[in-house]
Amino acid sequence: MTKAPETVDPHVFVLFGATGDLCRRKLLPAVFRLTQKGHLRNRHVVLGVARDDGMDERSFRSFARQALEDAGFSDSELDTWCDACLFYQPIQGDGGDDDYTSLKARIEEIEAKREMPGNRAYYLAVPPKVFPIVIDGLGRHGLNESPGWTRLIIEKPFGHDLESAKKLNATVHEWFSEEQIYRIDHYLGKETVQNLLVFRFANQVIESQWNRSAIENVQITVAEDIGVGTRAGYYDGVGALRDMLQNHLTQVLTLVAMEVPAAYDARSIRNEKIKVLRSIRKIDKSEVVFGQYAAGEIGGKQVAGYLDEDNVPDGSRTETFVAARLHIDNWRWQDVPFYVRTGKRLAERLTEIIITFRKPPVQFFKSMELDGDVRRDQLVITLQPDEGFALHVDVKHPATDQDLAKVPLSFRYEEAFGKLADAYVTLLLDVLTGDQTLFVHAEEVEESWTLFEPLLDGTIEAVPYASGGWGPTESEKLIEDDAGRWRV
Ligand code: BG6
Repeated sequence: MTKAPETVDPHVFVLFGATGDLCRRKLLPAVFRLTQKGHLRNRHVVLGVARDDGMDERSFRSFARQALEDAGFSDSELDTWCDACLFYQPIQGDGGDDDYTSLKARIEEIEAKREMPGNRAYYLAVPPKVFPIVIDGLGRHGLNESPGWTRLIIEKPFGHDLESAKKLNATVHEWFSEEQIYRIDHYLGKETVQNLLVFRFANQVIESQWNRSAIENVQITVAEDIGVGTRAGYYDGVGALRDMLQNHLTQVLTLVAMEVPAAYDARSIRNEKIKVLRSIRKIDKSEVVFGQYAAGEIGGKQVAGYLDEDNVPDGSRTETFVAARLHIDNWRWQDVPFYVRTGKRLAERLTEIIITFRKPPVQFFKSMELDGDVRRDQLVITLQPDEGFALHVDVKHPATDQDLAKVPLSFRYEEAFGKLADAYVTLLLDVLTGDQTLFVHAEEVEESWTLFEPLLDGTIEAVPYASGGWGPTESEKLIEDDAGRWRV
């Protein structure tokens, strides 16, 4: 969705957690990319806010400059932009009145000097336990309202179970209306994820086959080759289900499975996604596999197991892999299993949606068989590393009378349209233009926790799997039970 550059209003973008990793790697580069693309030609200011550790405006500008250089920018405008548009406000971070009184005064001072109309976006790039403190601080000091628009952007994770998600929603709703809230799931900013709706609903040939009569099963794989790295402090006790399945994979699943919305707008799309979540059958624990990576080899390099990573407590049972079979009880998807899996330290970085079509009713072509089974047509939608899709269909092999060959009819985004924008560029632009389509509604969060929370009672053991493979063999079994196999 390319927005016309002039559509972004003058605004102050208040970045909580401004000296953190997310700001450095993603948010500052995304804002700068928007200026480069001409979307922020109007007056705009980034006001970095972080816990006081001696940084001041000057050092924040150098920090941001370095972040932008690290992200590959070497624009001659870089210095000018940092000096003209970046400001910094240290806070104590304990929710005390002084923090928010001075923050308010600072915002008003900037707006007055620059003759800005009072549009404000607050981005919470802070640890989850700090969300309520900041939201409450903003609300109590009247920063939830302004002469222009006020928007609140919250990073995941949104709660760690149903109760905490409800509590957080209640805190947010005490001060902000749902129309002001932008819950980020960065998977929704990926071009191929957005394209799912266009691909399905703008193409008669696709949508007419997108149902239980034509489709045998759906697989969604989000595989990472990286391990937990330096993030054990956050990750341990959280695990793959909370970190990836409850949000990213579930969002992708709802877009694959939803009905056509009444209009291409946030309300209609979110309604359809919520309907999918409500139609998913209560998950049976026997249809779920948890795993934890052990040592192994990836790309010729030996890597340590999870328990030997820095800051992982001895004997941790945190799952770094989860696979599940889900069932959607509605007219479109009855009896079509949805297999989802995600894990760290797998063989490669790969995110794919695989639609496997039913086998044809005739089998007189011998070479349709593979390992004694008929090869199905498959649609492979790749989100990472190379966004695009391929429909694998049979053609006649020219050398023989009856031999068939599977060939891909494929499309790669980059070949057709050049390099794609980072998801955060897309999502920030949507926040600044007030488009909530790609953001998660409170109800979606709660429905998703309702679904997954029962799996988090500690009764599912994480079985070890060797790094560099595709997870525990139990996950293969899950799909083999239905005479299928994961596509690799
Ligand atoms: C984040 C998770 O939300 O998504 C990380 O917290 C994970 O653990 C990351 O590595 C994956 O994102 P992407 O875009 O690289 O697939």
